[in-house]
Amino acid sequence: MILSIESSCDDSAIAITEISTCKLLFHKKISQEIEHSVYGGVVPELAARLHAEALPKILEECKPYFSKLKAVAVTSSPGLTVTLIEGVTMAKAISVALRIPLIGVNHLVGHIYSLFIEKEAQFPLTVLLVSGGHTQVMEVKSLSEIDTIAKSMDDSFGESFDKVAKMMGLGYPGGPAIQELAKNGDRKKYNFTIPLAQSPKIAFSYSGLKNAVRLAVEKAEQEDYPDIAASFEHIATAHITNKLKRYFKTVTPVTFAIVGGASANLYLRSQIESLLKPHGARLLLSELKYCSDNAAMIGRVAVDMYNNEIFTSLDKLDVSPKSLL
Ligand code: KG4
Ligand code: ZN
Repeated sequence: MILSIESSCDDSAIAITEISTCKLLFHKKISQEIEHSVYGGVVPELAARLHAEALPKILEECKPYFSKLKAVAVTSSPGLTVTLIEGVTMAKAISVALRIPLIGVNHLVGHIYSLFIEKEAQFPLTVLLVSGGHTQVMEVKSLSEIDTIAKSMDDSFGESFDKVAKMMGLGYPGGPAIQELAKNGDRKKYNFTIPLAQSPKIAFSYSGLKNAVRLAVEKAEQEDYPDIAASFEHIATAHITNKLKRYFKTVTPVTFAIVGGASANLYLRSQIESLLKPHGARLLLSELKYCSDNAAMIGRVAVDMYNNEIFTSLDKLDVSPKSLL
């Protein structure tokens, strides 16, 4: 079995995964949404302190598995430096105490593998990763062959939902709150500009849209918020579908996946489904409970890394806020 730890942002999670079957034997996550909600976003120092409290509590419950562990895996990049350190320090201690190898996992690869929890991994895949930290299109040929096609030049898709929600006083995380509010709104009411619509570049940008929404919110009454939320969600999604449409002119999608916390967004899912239809492409999605950060996805990557003998030595495993992907 492999014990895996996730602490890259505001979720403390530990999982135990059986190597031979990929079966998830244990998974527990303690989220910090309530604690960060009053600030309208994640406060890194507070998050680190909460991980220091939560992770040992969860680990206590994993003790019965200790004698069966063959490796310990942990998210080492990308994420918040101060929170990554909490998980990595714990993983190193377990590695030394139980004399088992250490596996450093890239969080983004973790999100890709959220598709394959308790399942065989299947490649190749074109992946759209939409989370609080990333908006990225990748061609994934295997565990270690991942080409990044497009990235955000500033804010991410999920982050823009968080910031718009903050402007409307809806707390954190903003994605689910905006989605809910948008249900009663008119998507066409506010004519926000689709970012980079004229640019041939396959890239993303959300800061301009965020500022346009800010101006609209400042002028609006509370009863206008559902229309703003719906129009914002529509344009934020249209930006992605526009760029994918452009990309699909050169690369025909066969199996397409949407992963990351914001892949829970139902409007985004439905718009991408429509986009894929004419291509006859298959759409893969993670189970809703594994879209947001979790340790099950880290454990699932770790099984494939273990089978490929990809380990990290104790002195080499360092945290990195940036991803190499
Ligand atoms: O993957 P994740 O849990 O953490 C990161 O790796 O960043 O993603 C969290 C992000 C937050 O920005 C949150 O607002 C967004 O995912 N999110 C959503 C929805 N549910 C979560 N964004 C839009 N619509 C949703 N339904
Ligand atoms: Zn994530």
